[in-house]
Parts: sequence; structure tokens; C-alpha cells
Amino acid sequence: MNPYLDRLQPYPFEKLAALIGEVEPNPNLTPLNISIGEPKHPVAKKLRDAMANALDGISRYPTTRGELTLRRAAAGWLENRFELGKDSIDPDKNILPVNGTREALFSIAQLFTKQKSDPKEPIVLSPNPFYQIYEGAAHIAQTKLVFVNANADNNFLPEYHKLDKDILDGTALLYLCTPANPTGAVYNLEQLQQLIELADKHDFIIASDECYSEIWYNSPPPGLLQAAWAMGRKDFSRCLVFHSLSKRSNMPGARSGFVAGDQDVLATYFRLRTYTGCATPPFIQQAATAAWQDESHVEENRIQYRQKLQESIAILSPTLRVTQPEAGFYLWLKVPGGGVSFARRLYEGYNVTVLPGAFLSRDNNGENPGAPYIRVAMVASTKDNREAMERIAACAREIQNK
Ligand SMILES: Cc1ncc(COP(=O)(O)O)c(C=O)c1O
Repeated sequence: MNPYLDRLQPYPFEKLAALIGEVEPNPNLTPLNISIGEPKHPVAKKLRDAMANALDGISRYPTTRGELTLRRAAAGWLENRFELGKDSIDPDKNILPVNGTREALFSIAQLFTKQKSDPKEPIVLSPNPFYQIYEGAAHIAQTKLVFVNANADNNFLPEYHKLDKDILDGTALLYLCTPANPTGAVYNLEQLQQLIELADKHDFIIASDECYSEIWYNSPPPGLLQAAWAMGRKDFSRCLVFHSLSKRSNMPGARSGFVAGDQDVLATYFRLRTYTGCATPPFIQQAATAAWQDESHVEENRIQYRQKLQESIAILSPTLRVTQPEAGFYLWLKVPGGGVSFARRLYEGYNVTVLPGAFLSRDNNGENPGAPYIRVAMVASTKDNREAMERIAACAREIQNK
């Protein structure tokens, strides 16, 4: 067996099940589970109709490259949303559909496995806390994983530029997560451009996971391609972005997204993908085409998240210090007693399930940056979200008053 498989950790939700599995939740309260980042707002009717009307497609094998109409729709969306030049994204060269960005974030690391001629393992950089796929991807690609902490001292933006030169020189791939899961932090345009310059200097590729980019509160977060374009970098070299319909369009079950950017990297990645059998079903491609062409359902979605965020902050802030996320639908809450014991007590006393931050982060450089926190997903209905926040505040007061 591949010895690197032993490095894979249980998924955060398995750790959560182990933490609360034996605990009896308060039977007098209805259960509220806000641990998973699964959108619960309804899917727009026009997207469901587009899918239902395309069912005849199941009699054909889809291609790995996907239909041109989908690639054109995604390219048009990118150009508008990120202020790229018209026709700057070539739908034949700069874009590939993927079956949800999770599989793509995993498989992209396969391009950077160890070279026989080089005794050193290539390095993959990941934020910490992080989306767990980056870690598994780096291990299975047999690379060396280096975490960079996101904490209150750096405004939850990992400072990759502060790494030792040796590490940066050995880096093959940097996973960027902006807006970040779980912290909601966003790199600004200048910071993204500095990262691109760092990638040039040390010769690595940036994989920018931007699946939360459309759930924003004050202004739309910039993206990596936008930063590259604004630098006059028309070939988007070294830059890849990963976009998804899971959060933007409430369609996690459709498993649909795309990767866009550097055409040379994408050409190699395309070759890999032709072997892995990951072509997108035709009816999903039709729904995805409709989704990338429509902004009204995305705006409606944002309005609901904004209301929930405002209400959550109003309920929590008298008891806890809440840092407002710039984007995404999570609250990253520092809680009394640390995330693990708080999550356990919250489940036991208040029947609310949240994820301890430590399950999303690792010990690194003398700290576990997730340990003081819990991650709360504002995905439930307005009513359930309000109820969950009230119970979290009550639990915090109980612990503070002990
Ligand atoms: C940071 C981050 N990236 C990527 C994904 C994967 O999304 P999908 O595979 O549904 O596109 C998720 C899902 O929760 C996520 O939180």
C-alpha cells in the first residue's frame, strides 16, 4: 500500500462525531446542526429547470473539456466579475470544468509530485487552519507540506512572504484560500500581486481557492486572476483559480465548478484529467451554464446571508468578541475554554453542533491557531440561525460565569 496514505487524518466531521458521540444532548431543545458548510437556501427555479430540461444528455458520454457553451459562460462571468479584459479568458485554453472544486484542488497537486532527478520532495504551502483537502492532496502527491498560520496577529492572512528562502525556493505549489474558510479573511489586490511576485521569484504555482468569493458583505473580494490582469499579466502565468457553484448558487449536490488561469499548467492538467474519468454530466453542464449567466439568484443569496450575519453579530457581541468576516458564511468565534470543550458543552447543554477550530488546523510553530475557536456556519434558516446564536451566547455566558 502507498505509505503516504497513513498520513491522511480523519476528516473534521469524523473527529466531531468522536467528540460528541457519547454525549447526550439536551432533550428539551430541538437539535441545530451548524457545523457543516452546506448551503440551505433553495436552488433557483431556473437552474433546476435547466437541469431537468437537459436529461436527454445522459445518453451521451460527456468530454473532459466540457461543452463550449459552459466554458464560454464561465469565462464571461470571470471577465465581468473580476474586471478582466473582454475575451481575456480563452474558453479553449484558460478554463476547464471540474466536478466540484474539491476533486480539482486534490488532483492539481498530482502535477507536482517528486522528480526522480531531485532528491528533495517539492514543497506545498497551505494555510493553517485550512480546507482539509489541501493536506491530503499534498500527502498523496508525495510532497512536503508546510503550514503557514493564520491568526489574529496577522489578521488571519498567512504571511507566505515571511517564510525562509529555502522553503520558498523548494515550493512547487501554494494553496491560497481567499475568502478563507474558516476565518472569512480576504487578501486585497495588492497582497495578491505581492504573492504573484513571490511566485515569480521562487518559481511556483498559486492555486487560489475562491469558492466563497460571491458571499460577501461590503464589497466583492478581488481574485487572483484580477490581480494578475491588473499587473498587465495577460497570460495569467503561475495563477490558477478554483470557482464553484456549491456556495454561490446553493448547488453542492451538482458537483460543479471550474479551474481557470495559466494555459500551460491547464494543458498538462487537462492531460491528467482525461485519465481520471471526471467529465461533468451533460445535465449538470446545462444547469451550470445557466448559473454562471445569472447574477440575480446570487444577489438574493447574499441578501439572506447579510441579514443572518447582522443578526448573529447583534446576538453574540454583548457576550463574545466577534470579528466580522469579510466574506463567506462562517463565523470564527473565539470562545471561553477553547473550541473543543466549548463545542462539547454546547452540544450537551444546548443541542447545537458546531465544529471546534482545532479540527481544522494543526500544531505548527508552537501553536494550534484554530484551538481557541469554533466554526459556526450561518447556513440554517433565519429562524434557526437566530436560535442557534442565542444558544451559543447562553453557553458562553454559562462558562464565563463559572
Ligand atoms: C475552502 C473550500 N474550498 C473548496 C470547497 C469544495 O467545494 P466544492 O467541491 O463543493 O466545489 C469547500 C467546500 O466546503 C471549501 O470550504
